[in-house]
Amino acid sequence: MTEKRVKTIAFANNKGGSGKTTTCANVGYSLSLLGRRVLLIDGDMQLNLTLSFFPEDEVMDYACGEKNLYAAMKKEDDLWDYVVHTPYENLDLVPSSTLMSGIEYELFAKWQRELILSRSLKRLKEEGGYDYILIDAPPTLGGWVMNILCASDYVILPVEASPWGLFGVANMFEFLDNVKRLVPELALLGVAITKLDARKNYGRQTLEALQAYEEVNVFRTLIRVDSEIEWAQDNSRPVMAHKKSARSAGEYLELAKEVEEYVCRSKQH
Ligand SMILES: Nc1ncnc2c1ncn2[C@@H]1O[C@H](COP(=O)(O)OP(=O)(O)O)[C@@H](O)[C@H]1O
Ligand SMILES: [Mg+2]
Repeated sequence: MTEKRVKTIAFANNKGGSGKTTTCANVGYSLSLLGRRVLLIDGDMQLNLTLSFFPEDEVMDYACGEKNLYAAMKKEDDLWDYVVHTPYENLDLVPSSTLMSGIEYELFAKWQRELILSRSLKRLKEEGGYDYILIDAPPTLGGWVMNILCASDYVILPVEASPWGLFGVANMFEFLDNVKRLVPELALLGVAITKLDARKNYGRQTLEALQAYEEVNVFRTLIRVDSEIEWAQDNSRPVMAHKKSARSAGEYLELAKEVEEYVCRSKQH
């Protein structure tokens, strides 16, 4: 048996707007700049990860056509044929579809329904030649997110440094504990604090509140609020490709290095 090389990381938090998609896209792009081969999977019906790399008309072509995650999941197809190249070297993507809104219904009657994504990813994991597969999850805690987590080795939990940033995080930890009963190897790699506004005190509050959870790593790199992120997204680009000197571009590169460091240190490595 060949050694399992690829690391699969889910970006999940049931709270919307916590920075999941932004972190998945920019950590993914940064890892590709570091020379790693990366596959991104857009698991959300809002198509935000796909829109982070392709203009809207192309995204709609994927979403309305057959080359998207929903089509693959519906047919329980191998994801191998659903991969598209982004404009960047070492960075591929499986696009999403707005039809993902019906994914829970689709999963309902299927055999071993928590493991459909995991089965569809098998060949890409074994033969795709990727170093990382990063999956962007929607802001829910149901059967589909269960699928995403069952297909992953690690979870990164992006948390917004705001008064409501930690709202619902206890539910997320409980959900993770439940998933671990199915996949005991799944590990929370760390919490990434996002959208930190240095003029406000919520960063410290968020860190202190997270310290109440034992065995939860918080990444040292904090992602601060940066309007360049929105400009970059408006232009369907990762922030580093939009403006190399943007503060958040440097922060996401640091975070990507830290992700690699945590992965190397983890028991699963
Ligand atoms: N560091 C940041 N600075 C400014 N805006 C940000 C930052 N990170 C994310 N955003 C914005 O916040 C919103 C939510 O981020 P997003 O990554 O889509 O969260 P989620 O995927 O968890 O819903 C988006 O409009 C995004 O542009
Ligand atoms: Mg999102």
